[in-house]
Amino acid sequence: MPSVAVLGTGRMGAPIARNLKRAGFPVTVWNRTVAKARALQDDGIEVALTPAQAASGADVLVTMLADGPSTEQAMLGDAGALDALPAEAVWIQMGTIGIDWTQRLAARAAERTLAFVDAPVSGSDGPARDAQLLILASGADELQERVEPLFGAVGRRTLWVGPAGGGSALKLVLNAWLAAITQAAAEGVALAETLGLDPQVFTQTLADLPLGAPYAVAKANAMIERQFEPGFALALAHKDVALAVAAATERGLRLPLAGVIDGIWGEIIAQGHGGQDVAAAVMTVERDGAETGA
Ligand SMILES: NC(=O)c1ccc[n+]([C@@H]2O[C@H](COP(=O)([O-])OP(=O)(O)OC[C@H]3O[C@@H](n4cnc5c(N)ncnc54)[C@H](OP(=O)(O)O)[C@@H]3O)[C@@H](O)[C@H]2O)c1
Repeated sequence: MPSVAVLGTGRMGAPIARNLKRAGFPVTVWNRTVAKARALQDDGIEVALTPAQAASGADVLVTMLADGPSTEQAMLGDAGALDALPAEAVWIQMGTIGIDWTQRLAARAAERTLAFVDAPVSGSDGPARDAQLLILASGADELQERVEPLFGAVGRRTLWVGPAGGGSALKLVLNAWLAAITQAAAEGVALAETLGLDPQVFTQTLADLPLGAPYAVAKANAMIERQFEPGFALALAHKDVALAVAAATERGLRLPLAGVIDGIWGEIIAQGHGGQDVAAAVMTVERDGAETGA
């Protein structure tokens, strides 16, 4: 079995590493906060103290870090992984880092003639634990056979969408959609409460109609219950909206709704809510200056 190094053992990286190990791959992890990586040792996973140490000798390297800058730092910073990877290794980039960062990092891999697969995922921490992620993969066709066994260990399906960058593009479109339906859920809950309805009547009705995306219904129920324990942190969701707005703007496209969400989510993150679940978006909805979701 090829050996795998996983950089980033957060909410998504830790279950991905565990599932790879469970499927029989020898796994080494690195995480900035080493205590989180050590929590995986009971599963037989090795812990490296630097990205370079994790990468050295690995057949496959997976990055599952917060964003482009943290991925660049782990790959190209002090004791970075890129130079430590064997020449025949493949780098699978799974964090949501946007199109520009993907292209920039793919170019750095190409300078080293390293194989690179852009493979962000759809599905939150639950699907990550259950190996039920949808993998939005893109890259050279000849790499598919090499990486499919790994994807099979962490996901329910892999969608191949052309050359590297395509997966990240699809991920931005999906997360702009996620943001829109989450904000719609927030406003539906607040409007129902303000009109004197039991908001659960709203979510139950929604669930009974084609209108009610299961994700939006789940987030609306979390908003009603004020459950903001993060599955997907608001700050990460906001990063994705900002990446989508920037990618659109660069290409001359204005996204009015995503632009508004970018601004109002930024405001509640500045108030300290970035570490809460994206359901905390309900705090953007105010009545007479008072948050309905606080
Ligand atoms: N959660 C979801 O539902 C979900 C679903 C699909 C895709 N994603 C994407 O997957 C990626 C990971 O998300 P997550 O939910 O696992 O996030 P998370 O739990 O917050 O983990 C983030 C990871 O990035 C590391 N990190 C952050 N800033 C860093 C820096 N400056 N230098 C080095 N490491 C840094 C963290 O290290 P520390 O532990 O030291 O902080 C941690 O390993 C993100 O791009 C996210 O948008 C998330």
